[in-house]
Amino acid sequence: MSNPSLLILAGDGIGPEVMTEVKRVIEWFGTKRDLAFDVEEDLVGGAAYDKHGTPLHDDTMAKALKVDAVLLGAVGGPKYDALDFSVKPERGLLRLRKEMDLFSNLRPAQCFDALADFSSLKKDIVAGLDIMIVRELTSGVYFGEPRGIFEEGNERVGINTQRYTESEIDRVARSAFELARRRGNKVCSMEKANVMESGILWREVVQKVRDTDYPDVELSHMYADNGAMQLVRAPKQFDVIVTDNLFGDILSDCAAMLTGSLGMLPSASLGAPNADGRPKALYEPVHGSAPDIAGQGKANPIACILSFAMALRYSFDQGDEAARLEAAIEKVLADGVRTADLLGEEGVTPVSTTGMGDAILAALDASL
Ligand code: NAD
Ligand code: IPM
Ligand code: MN
Repeated sequence: MSNPSLLILAGDGIGPEVMTEVKRVIEWFGTKRDLAFDVEEDLVGGAAYDKHGTPLHDDTMAKALKVDAVLLGAVGGPKYDALDFSVKPERGLLRLRKEMDLFSNLRPAQCFDALADFSSLKKDIVAGLDIMIVRELTSGVYFGEPRGIFEEGNERVGINTQRYTESEIDRVARSAFELARRRGNKVCSMEKANVMESGILWREVVQKVRDTDYPDVELSHMYADNGAMQLVRAPKQFDVIVTDNLFGDILSDCAAMLTGSLGMLPSASLGAPNADGRPKALYEPVHGSAPDIAGQGKANPIACILSFAMALRYSFDQGDEAARLEAAIEKVLADGVRTADLLGEEGVTPVSTTGMGDAILAALDASL
């Protein structure tokens, strides 16, 4: 049988830096755990624009649709800010999500014990935190029509449209309820049904899916603005949060700080299962290309490495190996190894991106 296939799209800024460490981890699993992958690399974002004049070449799109999973670093950066909207680096990522139909974006926020002191919130608020944000990823205001900048009278108007069909809400709600059953059995759905029709429909459909097919799962509804407040007031009240594309983007960055750093948050973007029962999937850190620290060896590679752990679990049925990798990261943090974003404690010297990779590989070796 051939090895499972991975397409690596490292992207821009710190993307290639953190992905270098992920590639070392992938090699480790190949040599030490007999879990080899066929890895192919390609360009996305600004890097693809520089070579092809487009942030995602059609050939790359075709490869992404064929492989078992895609790993992505990050896209974007100031060099590309002035480009025409249609070729901005971010359009490459959005095309991947849309054409792979990755409607369910899992963004887990877990607070490792060793970092509980480091969060910007008080330790007892975040210690032991383990929540999962399920963000709808292929619709809503990111994709709704009409959109654009138009002339209207003697001025211009910028338009984006929040749009959700019942089936789009239904399928992401199901993925949240399925996940909840394997966790704390609780879902909180967030929208703004008080001011948006799409929010009213969202609430109705989520409730109907629950009542019809998941009566065993506890469901609550919350306005997204209150949800943002509750996430920093008492985040442990949540198990699974399901929300739309834009609210999910914002709420997940907010949840990142509960874990100590945006450099800690992985994600899995999943579509419907293929014929072999495996979902189409793309794994990427929640953070961006971090232009302020790019090229300095300062980036924390953990979010990207944890994204590979999610790939092991959700695409390759290797939950034990994913747990091995997560435990190695937990051990390294418990030993006090920190990249610069995780500092704050007196007397701790930061390690570089590579130094963090070295420590994680050593902890993996020690796990054998
Ligand atoms: P960002 O996530 O790149 O950075 C926000 C802050 O967090 C910065 O101070 C950065 O240094 C820090 N940070 C992020 N990741 C880190 C890591 N791994 N280690 C240490 N520190 C880290 O967000 P931004 O600055 O708003 O956006 C920069 C660019 O990235 C933009 O072009 C944006 O569109 C893009 N972006 C891409 C993605 C993606 O590819 N998925 C996600 C978010 C933003
Ligand atoms: C994210 C990013 C993306 C988004 C951008 C880069 C397209 O912020 O993945 O969180 O807005 O979805
Ligand atoms: Mn974001």
